[in-house]
Amino acid sequence: MPTADYQVFRDAESASRFIIDRYEDDHQPCPLVVKADGLASGKGVVVCSNRSQALEAIDRIARQREFGDAGREMVIEERLDGQEASVLAITDGRTILTLPPAQDHKPAYDGDRGPNTGGMGAYSPAPLVNSHTLSWIEEHVLVPTVHAMKRMRAPFSGVLYAGMMLTNQGPKVLEYNVRFGDPECQPILMRLKSDLAQVLLATAEGRLDELPPLEWDPRPAVCVVMASEGYPGNYAKGFPIRGLEEAAQIPDVKVFHAGTRLDNGQVVTDGGRVLGVTALGNSISAAKLQAYTAVKCIRWSGAWCRKDISDKALLSSSAGSDS
Ligand code: GLY
Repeated sequence: MPTADYQVFRDAESASRFIIDRYEDDHQPCPLVVKADGLASGKGVVVCSNRSQALEAIDRIARQREFGDAGREMVIEERLDGQEASVLAITDGRTILTLPPAQDHKPAYDGDRGPNTGGMGAYSPAPLVNSHTLSWIEEHVLVPTVHAMKRMRAPFSGVLYAGMMLTNQGPKVLEYNVRFGDPECQPILMRLKSDLAQVLLATAEGRLDELPPLEWDPRPAVCVVMASEGYPGNYAKGFPIRGLEEAAQIPDVKVFHAGTRLDNGQVVTDGGRVLGVTALGNSISAAKLQAYTAVKCIRWSGAWCRKDISDKALLSSSAGSDS
């Protein structure tokens, strides 16, 4: 599987020693990523450029236990530079249906700045992943995974999510999930015209090969995540959310709830990433405009979102598209 070079550590001392032995001081570039190996809601990943950042990340994960038990093991890996893309596929263990690629926006703030989050927005399809790249990922990542699991007598059926970094050395796997991504799922499924329930039933019953090809809306979709003030750090919950009905009136818009709950009939915030405001449009920029028009209708105390979701698509469309 094409991925970054990495090492696994179980204590702060050996991880720190590994860094100190290799990087003399902060003047030497230190392109590493320090990860809490367990689940940390997408937040346990620290991208480092110098030695102090790497040592601080080890301290936060392994000494201060900022991510709890997720930090019992740490992975220190080579930092891969490039653009990230999410390639999802549905498989019944024999047949693989690759879904149109999506691009997430993991950093919290505009221009991909700030701490990592679970994802502040996504769009699909991602022009960056042209048909040649997608076939390469199928051949080198998805097919070997499904075959290997079958050979291990642990056949997999469900959703495979390959988080890819498109580097100058070719696509490399950054992460693997066995679920639809959030927020990638929203723009991908907004475009699916086939009956998802039938697809999932066929997956569970091992007969994906009998399905007709999946039908897709040709229009792109953009999802903007609206978040609570303070996310991805600490945030308060329970703020009433207004304007959901107004947003729902906008054509080709769907507001997906993530961190909400009902409090005496009133929808209130109940998480860091609260809503995934998703829209279809005749172009990525039209879908973006529609999604942000809906975002403007919705308000609660402290609500915020990135303002540049999908702008990367406009930059990459000339470089990465099939045309
Ligand atoms: N958006 C990243 C994930 O779902 O893992």
